Amino acid sequence: METTDAIQGWRSIRKYKSDSIPEASLKKVLEAGRRAPSWENVQPWHFIVVEDPGVKGKLSQLAMGQPHVVAAPAVIAVCGDLSAWDKPKNKAALMELMEAGVIQVTEDIIDGFMLKSPVFCVAEHGPSVILSRTFEQLGIAYGFMAVEAVNQGLGMCMIGAFGNKVTGEAKELYEEIRKTLGLPESMYLLTLLTLGVPDEAPRPRPRKAFDAVVSRGKFGQTL
Ligand SMILES: Cc1cc2nc3c(=O)[nH]c(=O)nc-3n(C[C@H](O)[C@H](O)[C@H](O)COP(=O)(O)O)c2cc1C
Repeated sequence: METTDAIQGWRSIRKYKSDSIPEASLKKVLEAGRRAPSWENVQPWHFIVVEDPGVKGKLSQLAMGQPHVVAAPAVIAVCGDLSAWDKPKNKAALMELMEAGVIQVTEDIIDGFMLKSPVFCVAEHGPSVILSRTFEQLGIAYGFMAVEAVNQGLGMCMIGAFGNKVTGEAKELYEEIRKTLGLPESMYLLTLLTLGVPDEAPRPRPRKAFDAVVSRGKFGQTL
């Protein structure tokens, strides 16, 4: 499928056939997330494929009873790894980029400047900036996964409305699910992606007009 067609063909899919997801397609979707770009290549993510009906049921409960969470053959629990921003890990990611010739710096510049700069080092900031940067990276990863899902003939819905550390809802259930998923302390459950073979073909959902979101040269000047 052409990439443009996959992007234009995107719809949030909330109804799925009972068919299981071909393993090769599932892996391609996850691989799309793994290949996504991230800030200084820190890759602050982990993707857990949940197929157990009981666990999906709990996730649906956590998502205020959204039925497509339990109905989907698989739910990808997208977790943000807040420890990925810690300076030693951030340094390791930068060193890897340096060794690959992506950034022309020295270890001294990484230690003495980059890891001390509020522009380059996310860990220089407080938890809210760290969390928002984590969300930013995850959005890129599941954006890639969404396009690959369409390419694989699969349907996906991104789920952000659920109880977790961000929304502060359903704290006990969130903690129970964290245990079930075996999440390390630094790992937050931030998004769910329902996945399955589509059993609906919705029309494109409304969007703001092109000129309302795009300008050339200056805000409000049409392209
Ligand atoms: C970060 C994020 C969170 C979302 N959370 C939910 C959700 O909890 N439940 C749901 O049914 N749809 C959710 N959606 C889907 C949006 O409602 C949907 O993308 C929007 O209405 C546009 O429709 P479309 O995706 O079919 O083009 C979410 C989308 C995004 C990007």
